Amino acid sequence: MEKEDLPLLQEWVNNLNIEGEYEPIKQETIKDLEKQYDDLKEGQWFFIEKKDGKKIGYVAHFVSMGKQKEIGYALLPEERGKGYGTEAVTIMVDYLFLSKDIMRIQADIRPENIASQKVLEKVGFKKEGILRKCYFSRGKLRDTAIFSILREEWKEPKIIAKGK
Ligand SMILES: CC(C)(COP(=O)(O)OP(=O)(O)OC[C@H]1O[C@@H](n2cnc3c(N)ncnc32)[C@H](O)[C@@H]1OP(=O)(O)O)[C@@H](O)C(=O)NCCC(=O)NCCS
Repeated sequence: MEKEDLPLLQEWVNNLNIEGEYEPIKQETIKDLEKQYDDLKEGQWFFIEKKDGKKIGYVAHFVSMGKQKEIGYALLPEERGKGYGTEAVTIMVDYLFLSKDIMRIQADIRPENIASQKVLEKVGFKKEGILRKCYFSRGKLRDTAIFSILREEWKEPKIIAKGK
């Protein structure tokens, strides 16, 4: 994703249907997103595109909780349930372990988000535990589940090296 793509990202992150029913409600300005883009340093946002170039979602990596490499992702509602989430996360994990000197990748999800949990488990992430009532969203304090995959569990690229 380049800086000129931020208006589309803004449309998506401010749309409750795209971010999903469990994420905090956001209303980001272009200036907010430009600042986040400039501050990403060790992180990057990517569009998930179909072969015809249609943008159907995003997947991002960033650094959280001090030094943890974390990923986040979302798809347009009409493109869910077709395997694209699993494919995008698999590619991101391949890319990160092939290109970065890291031992683990983590994801932080709402325990109610079964689709997201299934994507992570299919890609080989394991649940580490629950951070209880760690953030406030949509009227209540909510738990977060932490998932991770270690380099030794990943073992080898699943998609990128196969040239798919
Ligand atoms: C989470 C998300 C990216 C999943 O992507 P997806 O492309 O729909 O998922 P996949 O099609 O790859 O499905 C992966 C598994 O989850 C299952 N699944 C998909 N949607 C599901 C749902 N709503 N409820 C239960 N299971 C679901 C699929 O059946 C599949 O399991 P299977 O192979 O055993 O059948 C997508 O639902 C989304 O964009 N949600 C809103 C944003 C969000 O929650 N992002 C994550 C924040 S941490």
